[in-house]
Amino acid sequence: RAPEPCTLVIFGATGDLTKRKLLPAVFGLWQDGQLGAGFSVLGVGRNPMSEEEFRTLVRQSLTTSKETDEIEGNNLEKFAAVAHYVGGEFGETGTYDAIGAKLREIQEARGAGDNALFYLSTPPSLFEVISQRLGDAGLASESDGWRRLIVEKPFGRDLASAVALNDALHDVWKEHQIYRIDHYLGKETVQNVLAIRFGNLIFEPIWNRSYVEHVQITAAEDLGMEGRGGYYEEAGVVRDMLQNHLMQLFTLVAMETPVAFDANAIRDEKVKVLRSTRPIPVERVSQVAVRGQYGPGTLYGERAKGYREEEKVAPDSSTPTFVAVKLEVDNWRWSGVPFFLRSGKRLPKKVTEIAVVFKRPPLGLFPGGTERNVLAFRIQPDEGVSLKFSSKTPGQENILREVVMDFRYDAFGAELESPYSRLLLDAMIGDATLFPREDEVQQAWELVSGILEAWSQPDANLPNYAAGTWGPDAADELLGPDRRWRHL
Ligand code: BG6
Repeated sequence: RAPEPCTLVIFGATGDLTKRKLLPAVFGLWQDGQLGAGFSVLGVGRNPMSEEEFRTLVRQSLTTSKETDEIEGNNLEKFAAVAHYVGGEFGETGTYDAIGAKLREIQEARGAGDNALFYLSTPPSLFEVISQRLGDAGLASESDGWRRLIVEKPFGRDLASAVALNDALHDVWKEHQIYRIDHYLGKETVQNVLAIRFGNLIFEPIWNRSYVEHVQITAAEDLGMEGRGGYYEEAGVVRDMLQNHLMQLFTLVAMETPVAFDANAIRDEKVKVLRSTRPIPVERVSQVAVRGQYGPGTLYGERAKGYREEEKVAPDSSTPTFVAVKLEVDNWRWSGVPFFLRSGKRLPKKVTEIAVVFKRPPLGLFPGGTERNVLAFRIQPDEGVSLKFSSKTPGQENILREVVMDFRYDAFGAELESPYSRLLLDAMIGDATLFPREDEVQQAWELVSGILEAWSQPDANLPNYAAGTWGPDAADELLGPDRRWRHL
């Protein structure tokens, strides 16, 4: 899997994401020899900066980011030497003339393929203008090599704006050139959901309403705003986590078997399952969704601020920082099996898990009854997969106890690579399997639009959970009788 020589053009080259995630990911790929000779990075930013200054920034980012692999020999210098920079306003055509000239210069020096991957790592308000200007400057044309566009999240802020953004991008790019990023799909453990489901015989036969009682998907975060209050006030947990990351996990668990392991076959199935999911119009929101916001509390033994005390957050904000939602899939496989999704900030710990909870055996032959089997995908941390089942405890009595069969990624003895490395490499190779397609993104927005609308109204009950707890009580009630959230 080696890409053709190309230039990665990063818009927002001096931004936080570039420094913390993108440059370390690209450096890791480059150092491993995965990008081949002729690879270059072209940073584009508003700040006027010389190439030398940008190279210094690249070196600094790599030495300070926790995500950088161990730097071998004088690779820091060698990598900095393939980095270039163009400064200019994103709305001005002159900036794009300069980018075009720089790309030609790099390509002439390389002597091969005029391939370029444009990465939009800017505030979303700039996506359309950058795309448009790239088109106007002829930089999206694939006449001499491939041209692709990676669009960071958030992709729109509701259905209408996502449709408008898709339309604007399509004025310039064909769908096969567009890569909408959701970094959860770049996580090894997320990809393993499909591998486990479809690479084994034993799971698929029981992956349906005859055997599965319900599914729980949790993405819990211990962090609060970390200076992102301004962004979060506009976004809230539904836009920040539910519409994208959680929906992606949900589709991977619930989708049908694809006809092939390729981008369109997989995405066809993901869209199908989203289309089979029962809509949540505004009137149903209070029955199937719980909104929460954290108040002050205690986390890791220390006082933690409430959301409304965070920087750039309104003192009477009703922005949700917690969501729990019940999804129902109206198809033959899943009819009657609820999927419970939850995510929140300032919960007791950082943990992401998908748990498939099976029905109980039909007869309770053993004293004390039997518990439900659970197959759990631990997405992070302690990456692994575990199967919980009942076993006889040693002794004269037939007493059962739950035991766990556990697979841990440590068993492979390899570090898990950053999701950005995987996704960047895939985009350079031209494999869109791990990037949500236009219809998929729109369908996911459509599913959450009732929730967004209902929750745009203030809620006098907020805040309704203390920082450092597992969210509002209503999230427990949402599960209904005889179910509880897993103890994580
Ligand atoms: C981002 C959200 O997309 O995902 C953040 O904007 C969130 O608010 C982050 O913290 C979680 O990602 P991860 O990989 O740390 O689970």
